[in-house]
Amino acid sequence: MITVVGSGKVGTSAALHIALKELDDITLIDIVEGLPQGEAIDLSNMCAILGLDVTIKGTNDFSEMRGSDLVIVTAGLPRKAGMTREELLQKNAGIVRDIGEKIREYAPDSRVIITTNPLDAMTYVLYKTTGFGRRVMGFSGILDASRLSYLIRNETGISYTSIDSMVIGQHGEAMVFLPKHSYVGGRRLTEILSSEKIKEIVERAKGMGAEIIKLRGYSSNYAPGAGLAVMAEAVLKDQKKVISTATYLDGEYGVRDVCIGVPAVIGRDGVEEIIELPLDEEERKAFQESVEYVRKLISQLSL
Ligand code: 2OP
Repeated sequence: MITVVGSGKVGTSAALHIALKELDDITLIDIVEGLPQGEAIDLSNMCAILGLDVTIKGTNDFSEMRGSDLVIVTAGLPRKAGMTREELLQKNAGIVRDIGEKIREYAPDSRVIITTNPLDAMTYVLYKTTGFGRRVMGFSGILDASRLSYLIRNETGISYTSIDSMVIGQHGEAMVFLPKHSYVGGRRLTEILSSEKIKEIVERAKGMGAEIIKLRGYSSNYAPGAGLAVMAEAVLKDQKKVISTATYLDGEYGVRDVCIGVPAVIGRDGVEEIIELPLDEEERKAFQESVEYVRKLISQLSL
């Protein structure tokens, strides 16, 4: 069973994509009475239309996550127009801590994926409260990469299926796009686009979350939902898929005691291996700055 905590736009979009993939039965949990129950019925009706034999249940009772193989945490306050992800720090840390304690109590053997912002710091909070080690994974790398792939496809006209964008570091302004480790049909992006063009698309990708909010009034949900289902699939099918994931670093990339995005092999046990890409001087410096940025956020929390 997969539990999705938070029945807002991201949680329900994740549930929708998980159902489309028929990965497992789903329990939606939210503190708002009626919300997860209503969403579960609507999603179940969708399953009936499409002939997907997935059982979807909604509840306000956290103990119903018992027996979950995977828990996806989407709960927390979303950004509003003009807000940074970091402004959510203290409020969401409290919410994530409470949820972490419940997961530890009711689903002690589960793997956990979190997408609450500010993402890297919230992954650290969950890492600390659950004590689950690298079974705790932060989702954002797929989302940031999707924004670059979108812009790269606009520039090159090449299919998404032949674009491989690599992003590491913090989810936000300090993200680190690695054009030398990104490929379009097997060729390095740096051989295809000029450095000015790459700079331009990176700037747009960094602000794309805020761009969406400014345009339509609320934060992204379709892309996070689809990306969470991809990550859930990697775990449940033990795919050993390499996904840029926020995870606890213990010396990798020369970094200790911080959760931040790096490419990782995702399988049954969560993050099973961290891939250490050879970074050049400039990339290493950018990653280090990203780490320091996240460290500063984490230091403001009492854990
Ligand atoms: C985004 O980048 C909400 O952080 C999320 O769209």
